[in-house]
Amino acid sequence: MSVTLAVTSGKGGTGKTMFSVNLAALLAMNESRVLIIDLNTGLRNVDICLGMENQVIYDLSDVVSGLCPLRRAMIRDDRFECLYLISASQDVSKARISDSDIKKIIDDVSSDFDFIIIDTPPALGSDWQSAVICADMAVVMLTQELASVRDADSVDYRLKKLGVKKRCAVINRLKSENYGGGESCFPSLTEIFSMIHMPVAGGIVEDKNIHLSMNSGVPVVCMKDSYVIENFKRIFLRMLDVYYG
Ligand SMILES: Nc1ncnc2c1ncn2[C@@H]1O[C@H](COP(=O)(O)OP(=O)(O)OP(=O)(O)O)[C@@H](O)[C@H]1O
Ligand SMILES: [Mg+2]
Repeated sequence: MSVTLAVTSGKGGTGKTMFSVNLAALLAMNESRVLIIDLNTGLRNVDICLGMENQVIYDLSDVVSGLCPLRRAMIRDDRFECLYLISASQDVSKARISDSDIKKIIDDVSSDFDFIIIDTPPALGSDWQSAVICADMAVVMLTQELASVRDADSVDYRLKKLGVKKRCAVINRLKSENYGGGESCFPSLTEIFSMIHMPVAGGIVEDKNIHLSMNSGVPVVCMKDSYVIENFKRIFLRMLDVYYG
């Protein structure tokens, strides 16, 4: 049985896709069997971040509409032992993915994977609800901005109402000069902790290499000797702590 992780946020552009792709790569590098599902219909990105955009022939909407079997839409990233991607459709007029579609897909592949990672669309619409409703755990990405923190807390509340029991936050794009807030207008880390109600699994600094990797098709955790690997490992261990705690 796999564990399904939904990577989500309140505000857009907080690093959901970045985190989904790197967590998937990190787990796959450590011999976990991983499936990453991009549920951003019309605005998919994961294929590009994994350098697999030319391999997508069938997508999730094709599976749901019956055009192809599920396993034909699963593309293997051959850099890893077991990392597969199912892309969202880039065409918004194609079949909508419902809660029950996602549930069926997860049930179908659950025994083949250790982790299913869902890169969710923007909160809090019906597509978002379908993306999170089957998750065993949600990771809420936020940045060190007031609006992002408040929106993350709203999403946390909504996830709780939807029955997603295990939830944690990851603070992305941190800049050391802003940690304490101080005279800057950014909320300090202490203020962020007091504004949200879920545990924080960790932080990720603003890093040019992370930004570049999103366009190179090579997840930044694949860069040897990078501090990023250890950082993602620590975040994942704290996520497990929340999951089993
Ligand atoms: N830690 C970081 N350091 C530098 N750049 C980052 C970092 N995290 C994310 N980015 C950059 O921020 C942008 C947004 O990241 P990403 O696409 O992962 O966000 P998202 O939450 O998935 O966005 P959307 O809401 O549009 O789906 C990208 O250009 C990415 O390269
Ligand atoms: Mg995204």
